[in-house]
Amino acid sequence: MKTLRVNLPGREYDIKIEKGSLDQSGELIARIHEPCNIAIVTDSNVAPLYSNRLITSMKKYGFSPKLITIPAGEGSKSVNMLTSLYAQMLDMGLTRSDLIIALGGGVVGDLTGFCASTLLRGIPFVQIPTTLLSQVDSSVGGKVAVNLPQGKNLVGTFYQPKLVIIDPTCLETLSDRIFSDGMAEVIKYGVILDENLFNTLRTSPTRTKITEVIGDIIYRSCDLKRMVVEEDEHDTGGRMILNFGHTFGHAIEKKYNFTDYTHGEGVAAGMVMAAEYGEHSGISPHGTAQQIAEVVTAFGLPAKIDIDKTSLINAVKVDKKGEGNLVTLVLAQRIGKAILQKTKKDGIWIW
Ligand code: GLY
Repeated sequence: MKTLRVNLPGREYDIKIEKGSLDQSGELIARIHEPCNIAIVTDSNVAPLYSNRLITSMKKYGFSPKLITIPAGEGSKSVNMLTSLYAQMLDMGLTRSDLIIALGGGVVGDLTGFCASTLLRGIPFVQIPTTLLSQVDSSVGGKVAVNLPQGKNLVGTFYQPKLVIIDPTCLETLSDRIFSDGMAEVIKYGVILDENLFNTLRTSPTRTKITEVIGDIIYRSCDLKRMVVEEDEHDTGGRMILNFGHTFGHAIEKKYNFTDYTHGEGVAAGMVMAAEYGEHSGISPHGTAQQIAEVVTAFGLPAKIDIDKTSLINAVKVDKKGEGNLVTLVLAQRIGKAILQKTKKDGIWIW
């Protein structure tokens, strides 16, 4: 089993990556926690696929699991659903010496993590991500949140899990579109931090080919994220490079009411735009946007999405990472290296 250790003082944890590790969850969790009550939060898509295997494994090691199933979809990442989770967990008699498990994709992980970070001022939690996006990104690093009507992830905390268990075989049940959703974040790691990873994606440009090495791809992605998070857990500096393509991507998601495009699709087109912006600013070498567009397209993601310039400029101006009149742009200095550039909001221009 491949293991990565996230070294955050007082909040260290392992990321375990292995095919079939879902069935070893009981054993892995027993190494870090005494037998206890466990609330497993999952969604209506994942519950019929994987919850029984997790429950069986937990019981084998003396845990008492109870399943809470929420409706699949972004709509569940709400304050109402959070309140419902609080109530169900209190009804179960969950205490701070018990455990919460998030079994599912980003919505389940973010909602459950936020619930765990706030209920009774904090209950330990374990992430078992089942989508590519959550395996390579959202389950690692401790960002947990719910959405508000005013925007996504507007109420959140940094709350690290006690353990992340990644079973790449869970990806087999994903549709091509949702697999590609996660590939956008993998491509992003290649662009901002790792030219070799980017080249691997160029030479294995299909789901079938990349699946042959998916354990290595997940490991490398989590390792890159680990390094970034260890340097800047609270997203006040270097962690912002993980935002490459995201500001424009969020503008696309918002413009299309968070329904027409997945997060990864917005980020894919957003990365190409960010590279075009970089090329026009003289930071990214000519051809960077084209290179990214080719890999994005190979993995079934859009390299271009129609959006008006006003929406783009507004998205930059309201970005959560803005400070006063300044906004931090993430630009690719070359494939494999991104830089942060602080710019006055009113100095943002669109080519
Ligand atoms: N997904 C970006 C971050 O964790 O900072």
